[in-house]
Amino acid sequence: MKYFSLVAIILALAACQGAEVSEPLAAQSRSVSSIIVDTLESCKLHMVEGWPQYGIPPLAPLEIPHKRFNFGTGELHATGALDGLVVRGLNEFDIRVMSANLLLSNIKFEFHFASLNLTTQYEAEVDAGYQMARNGGAFLALEDLNISGQIKYSTGVVGSSNNVRIKEIQLNLVAGNVVSNIENLSKYRILNRKLNDVVEEFISLTINENTDFFADWVDSTVTPICNDLIGDRSIKDILDLIGGGSK
Ligand SMILES: *[C@@H]1O[C@H](CO)[C@@H](O)[C@H](O)[C@H]1NC(C)=O
Ligand SMILES: *[C@@H]1O[C@H](CO)[C@@H](O)[C@H](O)[C@H]1NC(C)=O
Ligand SMILES: *[C@@H]1O[C@H](CO)[C@@H](O)[C@H](O)[C@H]1NC(C)=O
Repeated sequence: MKYFSLVAIILALAACQGAEVSEPLAAQSRSVSSIIVDTLESCKLHMVEGWPQYGIPPLAPLEIPHKRFNFGTGELHATGALDGLVVRGLNEFDIRVMSANLLLSNIKFEFHFASLNLTTQYEAEVDAGYQMARNGGAFLALEDLNISGQIKYSTGVVGSSNNVRIKEIQLNLVAGNVVSNIENLSKYRILNRKLNDVVEEFISLTINENTDFFADWVDSTVTPICNDLIGDRSIKDILDLIGGGSK
């Protein structure tokens, strides 16, 4: 979540930063859009190191040594652990649309990820009416992932230090293709492939069909986190932080 929050903050702050340039509004909007693109490009590079002072680990790749999970839907329950989880591709996206509108205080964007994927070892106790224990390696990927949306923000009194607030975040995800290769779901190869097909279908439906649910969840969860993170920090503090805290 901190990942989305950070991106949202960057967009809003870059917009405010840009607003100080005295140009006609349409030109200002264009220069803000290009400031945002530049900030995001340097942010991609910085994701290799993360932002340790704010508890944000390296994100490219993101490595999680151990994570327990507890998953239940309908008749199916699974508990277990993931070990050696690696997420790749968080910094490998193209910015297809970045358009700030200072008059309407919104920023529209579209990002494209060729492959956002994870590899891990897993151990699971599965209860699907009968009990089974499974373990092995797993690979999951969202390919041709299109993340688009818009952020609405407000700016208070110009010159005050804490004048930025995120009002609304709208986010749409569309995954062109989902890949699941989980080993050892079944000892029979054909059945293992079938079970992976079910997983692919499930993830694909969850992402592509539940967009309203996801959008509401992001807006209600991420918006307050963003505003918390912004807190009383000045725009300069936060831009310095995003730029690596070097200044
Ligand atoms: C995983 O994602 C990374 C970054 O997008 C990509 O370079 C790599 O080829 C992907 N791995 C697989 C097996 O698709
Ligand atoms: C598959 O699961 C069984 C039972 O837990 C385990 O003995 C075996 O090592 C696993 N195979 C692989 C390839 O991980
Ligand atoms: C990405 O998704 C948005 C919203 O669903 C859509 O408007 C846009 O055309 C998509 N872009 C591509 C390249 O498919």
